[in-house]
Amino acid sequence: MRVFVTGGTGLIGSAVVAELLGHGHAVLALARSDSSATALATAGAQAIRGDLADLGALRVGAAKADGVIHLAFANDFSSPAALAAAVAEEGAALAALGEELIDSGRPLITVSGTPRVPGRASTEADPLPTDGPVGGRSHSVTAVLDLASRGVRSSAVRMPRTVHNQGRGGFAGLLTDIARRSGVSGYPGDGAQRWPAVHALDAAVLFRLVLEKAPAGTSWHAVTDQGDAVRDIATVIGRRLGLPTEAVPQETFGPLGPIFATDQPSSSAHTRQTLGWQPHHPSLLEDLENIQP
Ligand SMILES: NC(=O)c1ccc[n+]([C@@H]2O[C@H](COP(=O)([O-])OP(=O)(O)OC[C@H]3O[C@@H](n4cnc5c(N)ncnc54)[C@H](OP(=O)(O)O)[C@@H]3O)[C@@H](O)[C@H]2O)c1
Repeated sequence: MRVFVTGGTGLIGSAVVAELLGHGHAVLALARSDSSATALATAGAQAIRGDLADLGALRVGAAKADGVIHLAFANDFSSPAALAAAVAEEGAALAALGEELIDSGRPLITVSGTPRVPGRASTEADPLPTDGPVGGRSHSVTAVLDLASRGVRSSAVRMPRTVHNQGRGGFAGLLTDIARRSGVSGYPGDGAQRWPAVHALDAAVLFRLVLEKAPAGTSWHAVTDQGDAVRDIATVIGRRLGLPTEAVPQETFGPLGPIFATDQPSSSAHTRQTLGWQPHHPSLLEDLENIQP
C-alpha cells in the first residue's frame, strides 16, 4: 500500500514509517519543516510539506494514498488553552482526512489512548473518556470510528501512558524531564497507581497489522506492560539520574496532574489474540535503564 502518515518524524511515527517501509509499503508523510522533510527522505519516505492546520495538504496526502495513519499532535501541555488549541487542531485535521476517504473503503487509522476503568484493566471494548484536559481528543477518535458507516475502514490504535524507546517518551519521559529540572524524581499520591506502557517498535508493528487487516470501526490496544506502579518508574528514573525519589504534590505536573495520579492499567488480550500481535521489545522498566544522567 501507499500510506499517508502524519507525525512520521515523532517517537512513534518514525518507528511506524520504518515498519511500513520494511514490509513493502510506500510512505508519503506530512513534513512541517525542512529538517522533518530531510529526516523523512533519509528514512525512505516521500514528504508532503504542510502542518496539521493545512487542511489542503492533508487532503492531498489522503487522496494520493491507499490508507492513512494519523499520529501528529502538538503535545503542548504548557497551559489549558494551549492544550485545547492542539485538541481542536487535531479534530479539524482528522475531519479533513476522513472526508477525503468517504466511500473509498480505504483505511484511516488514528492514534488514541487506552481508557481508565476503576478497579480493573481497561479493554478494547471500554469507551474512551471524554472528561479531563484531553477528553476532546476522544470525540475526534469517535468521529473517525463513525466513518465506518460511510465507507471508511476506520480504526483507532490506543496507546498506553508511555510509549518509549531508548528510555525516552511518554509520561515516563515527562517524569524524567521534570526530575532533571527539579532535582527530585517525583511521583503524585502514594505512587501505587499503575500506568501501562509499550515500546515504540512494538507499537509500530500493531499500526501495520491494523492497516493491513483490521475491520472498519475497530479499536486496538498497543499495550505490553499492563501497569507499572508510578513509584517504581520514578525509582528507576531517580537511580539513573542520581536523584532522590519522593512523593510530590499533584500540582507539580500542571494540567496532567490528575491524570498522573490515576490508576489506569490496561489489557491488550483481545488485540494479541485477534491480530496475532506479539510485542517482544524491552519493557518500560528495562528500557528506562537507558536513561543517562
Ligand atoms: N509517546 C507516548 O507515550 C504517547 C502515549 C499516548 C499517546 N501518544 C500519542 O501518539 C502520537 C504520537 O506521539 P509521539 O510520542 O510520537 O509524539 P512526538 O514524538 O512528540 O512527535 C510528534 C509528531 O507530530 C508532528 N507534529 C506535531 N505538531 C504538528 C503539527 N501542528 N503539524 C504537523 N505535524 C506536527 C511532529 O513533527 P516534527 O517532527 O516536525 O516536530 C512529530 O512528527 C501523539 O498523538 C501522542 O499524543 C503518545
